[in-house]
Amino acid sequence: MAEMTKKIALDGPSGSGKSTLAKNLARHYGFVYIDTGALYRTIGLFVCERGIESTDVAGIISCLPDIKIEMKLENGGGAVYLGGRRIGDEIRTPIISKYASDVSKVPEVREFLLETQRAIARENNVIMDGRDIGTVILPDAQAKLFVFASAEARAKRRYAELLERGVETTYESVLADMQWRDANDSQREIAPAVPAKDAVMFDNSLMNIDEMVKNAIEIIDKVLF
Ligand code: DC
Repeated sequence: MAEMTKKIALDGPSGSGKSTLAKNLARHYGFVYIDTGALYRTIGLFVCERGIESTDVAGIISCLPDIKIEMKLENGGGAVYLGGRRIGDEIRTPIISKYASDVSKVPEVREFLLETQRAIARENNVIMDGRDIGTVILPDAQAKLFVFASAEARAKRRYAELLERGVETTYESVLADMQWRDANDSQREIAPAVPAKDAVMFDNSLMNIDEMVKNAIEIIDKVLF
């Protein structure tokens, strides 16, 4: 029988520090880092490039047979390819954030991405970040953290991140986007961003990156090893 892989699930709202935490934990444990939001963003990008509105559910579903999405292991993480094209920062814009949030509400889209996510976790020790990893994608993950922080703390971090990438925006619009997406992601009927019953609630509003990583390692070490 194949040895069971180790899985760490990190779920939580946008800008909660999940991806920073996940990258650091992946390095610490030597696990593959999978950013599942990048998959939804890539579907959003495809739909947007087709000129279909983000709320046009039938239009979104009609795209799926034409979407060839792959996740390949590169530098210890999962790199996303769309029809052979390597996807990078073009999925990190505010427009694609909105597309990603909207397409992720469509059950057919979630179903479409399910196996891509599970397949990687069958073959590798993974740390996966998203919204429904502990509840739907990897319910058998040995460690589950629900990562969150106040909307203001999250907006401040996301704003700094966007500035660094050269994206022009204001703190107010980042906060407004964040609040809109929180509501859109948590109030949807399918796979809302809610904690798994066995997830540890991890509020990092008052932690810097080093503290966040150290505290998470303490929690994970107890259940994983
Ligand atoms: O983590 P992120 O901000 O890159 O995610 C983009 C969008 O994708 C987010 O609005 C919610 C959605 N998403 C999801 O529904 N399920 C996931 N596992 C990851 C992301």
